[in-house]
Amino acid sequence: MPATPGVAVFGVPRTPVSGYEVVRMNESIDTLRQEFEQDFAAISDMETWKSVRDRYLARDSGVITTALKKLRDIPKEDRPAFGQAMNRLRTFVEERLQEKFAAVRDADLASKLQKTDVTRPGFPISLGAVHPIKQLQKEIEQIFVSMGFQVFDLPEIEKDYYNFEALNMPRNHPARDAQDTFYFDQTNLLRTHCSAVQVHSMEAMKPPIRAISTGKVYRRDPFDATHSPMFYQVDVIVVEEGITMGDLKGMLDAFLKRLFGPGTLMRLRPGFFPFVEPGAEVDISCIFCSGRGCAKCKQSGWIEILGAGMVHPKVLRMSNIDDSRYSGFAWGMGIDRVAILKYGVDDIRLFFDNDLRFLRQF
Ligand code: PHE
Repeated sequence: MPATPGVAVFGVPRTPVSGYEVVRMNESIDTLRQEFEQDFAAISDMETWKSVRDRYLARDSGVITTALKKLRDIPKEDRPAFGQAMNRLRTFVEERLQEKFAAVRDADLASKLQKTDVTRPGFPISLGAVHPIKQLQKEIEQIFVSMGFQVFDLPEIEKDYYNFEALNMPRNHPARDAQDTFYFDQTNLLRTHCSAVQVHSMEAMKPPIRAISTGKVYRRDPFDATHSPMFYQVDVIVVEEGITMGDLKGMLDAFLKRLFGPGTLMRLRPGFFPFVEPGAEVDISCIFCSGRGCAKCKQSGWIEILGAGMVHPKVLRMSNIDDSRYSGFAWGMGIDRVAILKYGVDDIRLFFDNDLRFLRQF
């Protein structure tokens, strides 16, 4: 048996314990209680409170918990008395600690507050903002939603069929070269434009069709001031009975005035895209010089802004639209290009560098 009675509790021998030993055990419980009282009196803050609690009550190593686990080492007849005494001690310790808890917690808080100047202004929380391209993308979508258009959210990884074939660009069609493409395999590619909305909307809806889709497109282009291998587009398609080039012109005029200001003029020049016939390149009057001629518009007074045309009858037929009854128009535009013009930015990379000094201006 160890010499100090306080420790005897843990080293209780397996051999039968005499009445004398039980008396010693009770003595050691008393010693334990006294030790606890001493430790308890020394509690001054949450840290010391916790260390006293753990010393006596911790599940695996607490003094009282361990002693109770050793109960089975004591002769059967002595167990009830010893167990009860230990349990009383445990309840006593628990209650004392519980009583002390609120006071310790309040003292802790008070001392923390003393060290903190609560009247000091907090650190400013900086809020994120919507990227200028995204703002423009949403603004354009909103204009068309207000006119009753259906917004299509389409995949950036597209099938060759939707990006090319169904838009009258079969394999080996020379027009594919103009959109140098990232292919995954024979069928899957990164879309080179948003014009697949024509095919997807005609598959999904019956005329009248009014659909728009915006998003990222990818081409094997260099990354320099005027090119990016990833940029944003918006494509629009309308298919109904009796749609003419006049409808296309009317809508574009209204849209471009809304986007660039009411004084904006536009003109159509013949242009070729395999999925429209006739096709057109659309210019707006130069927004820098109002059409008088400047360096930005190469003295022409006009700036090219989008491609458009009447949906090719073949494209209608491939998507099971009766081309003897319905006609439609479609157009597509680069959103980054609009941003560059609208905000007078001379390097497209600025939109993708994520330099906050640049982005905070929008
Ligand atoms: N998809 C064409 C491009 O990326 C633009 C376009 C769309 C032209 C619709 C005509 C009709 O250049």
